[in-house]
Amino acid sequence: MATKVQTEESIVEHSPTANLETDLALEFLRVVEEAAIASAKTMGQGDRKHADQMATEAMRGVMDSVPMDGTIVIGEGERDEAPMLYIGEKVGKRDGGTYPGVDIAVDPLEGTNLCATGSPGAITVLAASEHGGLLHAPDCYMEKIVVGPSCKGMVDLEAPVSHNLNVIAKVLDRDVEDLVIIILDRPRHEGLINEIRKAGARIQLISDGDLSPGVAAAMLGSGVHAVMGTGGAPEGVITAAAIRCLNGYMVGRLVGYTPEQGERMKDMGISDPKRIYTADDLAPGKNIIFSATGVTDGPLLKGVRFFGDGVRTSSLVMKLNKSKVRFIETVHVDKRPDAKVRIPER
Ligand code: FBP
Repeated sequence: MATKVQTEESIVEHSPTANLETDLALEFLRVVEEAAIASAKTMGQGDRKHADQMATEAMRGVMDSVPMDGTIVIGEGERDEAPMLYIGEKVGKRDGGTYPGVDIAVDPLEGTNLCATGSPGAITVLAASEHGGLLHAPDCYMEKIVVGPSCKGMVDLEAPVSHNLNVIAKVLDRDVEDLVIIILDRPRHEGLINEIRKAGARIQLISDGDLSPGVAAAMLGSGVHAVMGTGGAPEGVITAAAIRCLNGYMVGRLVGYTPEQGERMKDMGISDPKRIYTADDLAPGKNIIFSATGVTDGPLLKGVRFFGDGVRTSSLVMKLNKSKVRFIETVHVDKRPDAKVRIPER
């Protein structure tokens, strides 16, 4: 029989056998919000490890209040190298397996350096799905191209860069010179950057954090037309979950893995590591949930704002099955009798 579970932010119709999509999105909102607030307190302190630890501890703490039987499939590392949110860790209320089984990919603080230096683009983020709905990518790299819905099926990792740029420009009804391509500023991208420059497109080099630009590339009006280049594979899988919710398009290929990681991939169900994956392959779940909260201001979300009477957070919560994309502004009001709340900007 269904029971009512009341949380601070939401009243959720919950039954142990309920569909995970119906129930969990707002629960995951709480998870990323708390992680964002905790890490934002360390902004600019120059200590990326501490910032990450704050986010991880907060995320882990809230996770166990979520009515699910969760398993971390992408997390802070292997069991022996991460104290919490490690791969394989069980999270959620669980309650003897009566809750829905959920696979979870977390990046408690995406852009640790960005938070440590107070630079734009740090977020807290997770993706969830029914069991088997997220590729168990190891902590290696992923070469990728991420574009919006209009470019579905049109870009190819094997094609020359100029071809991909011409296709994107044509589909978006503009000149190549009008495109904005986001790339991590890394020596490994020297060739790619040169080719994009030669083709004439504009480039935004970022020091870290290619997940939120990837999500932004799949939204109209973001000013980002594609993300190209090689970033973290875990970030790639989480990006793919968002891309599916937004009808965007992404191709990615695992690179830079060690021989041991190559071996382990077989156990993780990856039979051909050289394969080119689409977002559908990277996040094949039917019940994908994506949630993220801004830590510092970025292309997608505002950062955490502390004011006298509380904290404001900006989040994105998406559900594939319900086709819901929610931008959520939350005011976390101080528990003081005189605390005041201001109407958000309209
Ligand atoms: P952290 O959040 O772990 O610091 O990493 C962020 C990030 O910049 C990702 O956005 C990106 O995909 C990856 O690191 C790139 O890795 P590298 O810094 O090794 O090039």
